[in-house]
Amino acid sequence: MKITTPSKIILNNIRVVNPSESKDEVVSLMIEQGVISYYCLQPFTETVSDNSTKVIDGTDLVCAPGFYDMHVHLREPGQEYKETIQTGTNCAANGGFTGVCCMPNTAPAIDHPAIVEYITNRAAHTLTEVHVTAAITKERKGKELAPLLELYKSGVVMFSDDGSCITDSAVMRRAFEYLAPIDALLSQHCEDHALTEGFVMNEGAMSALLGVKGYPTVAEEVMIARDIMLAQYLGNRRYHVSHLSTSGGIELVRSAKARGQRVSCEVTPHHFTLTDASLHEYDAHYKMNPPLRTSADIAAIIEGIKDGTVEVIATDHAPHARHEKLVELGLAANGILGLETSIGLSLTHLVHAGHITLARLIELMSINPRKILNLPDIRIAQGASANLTILAPNEEWTYNVETTKSLSRNTPYHGWNMKGKPRYAINRGIIAECTL
Ligand code: DOR
Repeated sequence: MKITTPSKIILNNIRVVNPSESKDEVVSLMIEQGVISYYCLQPFTETVSDNSTKVIDGTDLVCAPGFYDMHVHLREPGQEYKETIQTGTNCAANGGFTGVCCMPNTAPAIDHPAIVEYITNRAAHTLTEVHVTAAITKERKGKELAPLLELYKSGVVMFSDDGSCITDSAVMRRAFEYLAPIDALLSQHCEDHALTEGFVMNEGAMSALLGVKGYPTVAEEVMIARDIMLAQYLGNRRYHVSHLSTSGGIELVRSAKARGQRVSCEVTPHHFTLTDASLHEYDAHYKMNPPLRTSADIAAIIEGIKDGTVEVIATDHAPHARHEKLVELGLAANGILGLETSIGLSLTHLVHAGHITLARLIELMSINPRKILNLPDIRIAQGASANLTILAPNEEWTYNVETTKSLSRNTPYHGWNMKGKPRYAINRGIIAECTL
């Protein structure tokens, strides 16, 4: 990946697609000092890049509002051997993302404003902006509330104990009540830990065949159902389901939305491209939480993406070191890398597969996550800040994890062929040329 800060960036004859402005048109753009200074029909006369001007021929490319991943693990502070804010944001930019929201299961957990400040400062000048999800409870133990209002004042955009679930309903109720006056967003990693203790993979035919402990779909669904009921009972509170993986979960969110509840959910690319059958060789690159489910769950997730039940695609980018993955399945850490494969997998398996349009994908990966987190909408117009993802939607390529910008290598997608990739990420006056 090449990162530069040219004083002028020119995109000639590029297709701008931004459903939030009802735009789908071929134009030319000039960006100066991070701002779109010209947006016009005619291409600019400069055609050659030099030290201060970067000229891009936009033929066959798409210019979209900068993609946003609302569920990533940057591992800093405390687990810098897996990822750092610098390597994680580089990986995000290489994957086409101009913004990410990081999760609080760091060491220490993000349960104090000082840690939010630390992360925000470390990410002050990165191309990919970092917003913070703070823990709901102290040390993510699910018992005592963290200082939620102070955390909110320090700038966090969401609350979650991600990596584990708050199974105590009274604690969850209190969190909803504390956040009600500021209408802040609560998110949950939905898992009834009593039902998943010692799990290795999805509970089903494959776990029986392999002789390993399963994680039943109902363990996820009872928590989604409980939270939806609490959110409704406490006055239609805002609530977001993390990495939803089951057909029953989709149905619960669909019916809550139909009742008018302010409930949203995200799904990951691995939960719509892989099933638990992949674990037949006990390969820990297919081990995550929630686990890979079945083809019936994939069908339900895709139906949810199509009908609007699912509003967001997020990766749950979860870097782990080799020694944490290359061990026997039961001992291996949960999670996989996601940032560099998310756009390619989504274009291939959702857009080119004929399930959704490119415009809808842009809603799922840029517009909706920002809306849910109350972040400003991106405009692609003269005078607006240039926060853009440039896609090559039809380019065929093969993912090679050896080129990753992450510190870790834990992906099941090494060697996968895809159609469509990010080509550039542009934000804060910086341009990254993606090298996937
Ligand atoms: O697979 C996962 N990995 N799921 C989670 O909820 C946490 C994550 C991690 O932090 O590694």
